[in-house]
Amino acid sequence: MSKKESLQKTVTMASSENLLEVHNLVKYFPIKSSFFKRTIGNVKAVDHVSFNIKRQHTMGLVGESGCGKSTCGRTILRLIEKTSGEVYFDGQDVYALTKEELRRMRPRMQIVFQDPYSSLSPRLPIGEIIAEAVREHNIVPANELNDYISRVMEVCGLPAYYKERYPHEFSGGQRQRICIARSLALAPDFIVCDEPVSALDVSIQAQIINLLEQLQEEFGLTYLFISHDLSVVEHISDTVGVMYLGTLVEYAPTDLIFSNPLNPYTKALFSAIPVPDPDVKINRIILEGSIPSPANPPAGCKFHTRCSQCQEVCKYVAPRWKEVEPEHFCACHLYNDISEDASAREEMAKAKAAEEASGSSNTEGSKDLL
Ligand SMILES: Nc1ncnc2c1ncn2[C@@H]1O[C@H](COP(=O)(O)OP(=O)(O)OP(=O)(O)O)[C@@H](O)[C@H]1O
Ligand code: SF4
Ligand SMILES: [Mg+2]
Repeated sequence: MSKKESLQKTVTMASSENLLEVHNLVKYFPIKSSFFKRTIGNVKAVDHVSFNIKRQHTMGLVGESGCGKSTCGRTILRLIEKTSGEVYFDGQDVYALTKEELRRMRPRMQIVFQDPYSSLSPRLPIGEIIAEAVREHNIVPANELNDYISRVMEVCGLPAYYKERYPHEFSGGQRQRICIARSLALAPDFIVCDEPVSALDVSIQAQIINLLEQLQEEFGLTYLFISHDLSVVEHISDTVGVMYLGTLVEYAPTDLIFSNPLNPYTKALFSAIPVPDPDVKINRIILEGSIPSPANPPAGCKFHTRCSQCQEVCKYVAPRWKEVEPEHFCACHLYNDISEDASAREEMAKAKAAEEASGSSNTEGSKDLL
């Protein structure tokens, strides 16, 4: 196993309590030259990410815009192909499935998108939108389809008589209920919820979150919940992963990570959570500098160009993934002693020698290439 691969070897290996296991997942998007269409670089959208999700649990995935959350969710579902790494769903290697096996697996792994309007065909009534895939995957016999769709709609808070209406006749919250009903109708085990409430106003957000929780309880669902909204993530998640520039920098049970964030990036991100009590003083950490390009991330720790606690080693060596306290994983040199890590010292010496030889500084990754 390469050093990079060992970075995020996380949590436990295959075990039946996990519905989903993601090992060293990588998704790079090639950057083509405009003339010869040659690959001249890669956008490192997901860069060696590993985590597990237990059955009937919710993992929240957070991080700044463009850090790779959606790409991670889509690559797990094989809606886009991985560059490397492994994804196990219920013990099965998702990327080893044939086209037909994947088609049969599809109903079990669903996604709900941020923008409900654009993911609903404007030309079909919603009863048909929900029924389409149910029919395709033979979820129920044809003579039971109509009743089945009515039941699914009612479970999602949509009266069955709405079946004949078209998506434009609904509010944003109702459209998101339609999207959830469409996924739920396939009797899934796992749903990637990609910013499912970001397009909705606060009171409707609460209704949709309650619906998701109620459905999880009733149908034993497992969620990967992607969101910018840390308060929502804290409310709904059992565990939380924090991503920065395609890399997972911290992962822990929700109460642990919110009460004791370890990584300086997580601390800065969480310091922006609004507190309802005006007497409570918030020590907001303002991050300096812009997010580096994922096409040319900084060497060493990708966050070193913006981290107030950056040390020399951070500029040269990517921090190892470490269980700092039980179940609380973090990649940061503050929790690794370089004097005890011969390979890190060797890596740093080589990187410094290479830097001196080239006469350049490895903070150049912070310059935007795109
Ligand atoms: N199809 C694509 N081709 C090339 N680059 C892509 C593609 N999809 C995403 N990217 C790039 O990959 C990186 C991660 O994008 P992604 O959409 O996964 O981020 P995100 O964390 O979901 O952001 P947001 O919070 O804004 O939704 C970005 O730099 C984005 O520009
Ligand atoms: S490894 Fe260094 S630069 Fe990265 S978050 Fe930790 S202290 Fe900051
Ligand atoms: Mg996204």
